[in-house]
Amino acid sequence: MKIKQVKARQVYDCRCTPTVEVDVTLDSGAFGRAIVASGASTGKFEALELRDGDPSRFRGKTVYQAIKNIEQEIAPAVIGFDASRQADLDQLLIELDGTPNKTRLGANALLGVSMAAAYAAAQEAGVPLYRHLGGAEARTLPASWVQLFNGGVHTERSIDIQDFSIIPMNARNHDEYLEIGYEIFQTTKDMLRELGKPVGSGDEGGFWPIFDYNEEALELIMQAIRRAGFKPREEIMITMDVAASSFFADGKYHLELEDKHLSAQEWAQMLESWVDKYPIISIEDGMAEEDWQGWELLTARIGDRCQLVGDDLFTTNVERIQEGIRRGAANASLIKLNQIGTVTETLAAVKVSQNANYLPVVSARSGDTEDNTCVHIAVATNSGQLKPGGLTRTCRINKYNEVVRIGQELGDKAIWPIPDLFARFLK
Ligand code: PGA
Ligand code: ZN
Repeated sequence: MKIKQVKARQVYDCRCTPTVEVDVTLDSGAFGRAIVASGASTGKFEALELRDGDPSRFRGKTVYQAIKNIEQEIAPAVIGFDASRQADLDQLLIELDGTPNKTRLGANALLGVSMAAAYAAAQEAGVPLYRHLGGAEARTLPASWVQLFNGGVHTERSIDIQDFSIIPMNARNHDEYLEIGYEIFQTTKDMLRELGKPVGSGDEGGFWPIFDYNEEALELIMQAIRRAGFKPREEIMITMDVAASSFFADGKYHLELEDKHLSAQEWAQMLESWVDKYPIISIEDGMAEEDWQGWELLTARIGDRCQLVGDDLFTTNVERIQEGIRRGAANASLIKLNQIGTVTETLAAVKVSQNANYLPVVSARSGDTEDNTCVHIAVATNSGQLKPGGLTRTCRINKYNEVVRIGQELGDKAIWPIPDLFARFLK
């Protein structure tokens, strides 16, 4: 499975922001192609996304240097390497870069090669990527958080909280799950129309909220669930991504919409009151990425009845996840390939989480593409949860479609993860 050729080019994500695409061809002719996704609400501890920074070209966002790094440095180093040895290949990439945060060659350059090589090796082996990476045990289809409202930096901060999504808990399979999600998504749209509010969407495909206060999103979701004919809590749970790092400054949480400036204690209290009042099963980045104490506080308060997901907190980084486990901060981890920069490190982050009973949630990014690698990572690791975004835009829906294809491939071997996945929070 020797790598024969590596080609890279600048392509464009769903915001038309430049990004890296890589093709890897093996001696046998087997071929792999991957595109690296890109975030807007990025964590401070993420591996470096290398951009050229020339303001006259794509507002500084071109990735020509990353492409050059692939062509001139990475390609010569990996040609002749056995693509089936993913862990060794990724180790080679990490050493070639030689910096802790992949700042020299760029995590986007390394990841493009890492993913494309994985696809090529899978093709050579004649299996889909999830099977190549996860083996015969890889057969859990992920339940996707269906985003209803986008917010935070994905909607010009029209509300502070970054997203609100739902999980249909009683769906027996992915098709039924999506059908229920669709019904509630469309009902939300009907209600927005009736209220004279906009029905356009944010970067991740949830509706763009023009609200007076953050909790209005929760109130509307409850109404939409009921109006669509479902029972909140028994049938539908809510998830939120607070992305609290984006409104944390000087030790306080600043809800601009409500002009509230809260200590970690007060903010945790507010989140707890929402969990008491609404069927919230999951809160992501409830606290800021540097506020370990706030995280410990929140986890102690509601960690037994709510999934608490570290995204900016953990950045798919094994060491940060281990730190969280040690401290009792969060009880779940968001997994994004480009936060860390190789396939192997991504899989390691999932493993460390699972070993500590932290549920992994594999996620797309706000700048995503036709690339479906995140879906395959979810299935490969039996994570059980995926965060693709709302029910608009191809860069979101293609993730749902890939789950459909994988479901058909697995047939009756497929495992559908809910509601068991959340049993510990639902006692
Ligand atoms: P991002 O947002 O891709 O813009 O970072 C997604 C998230 O915060 O989960
Ligand atoms: Zn997040």
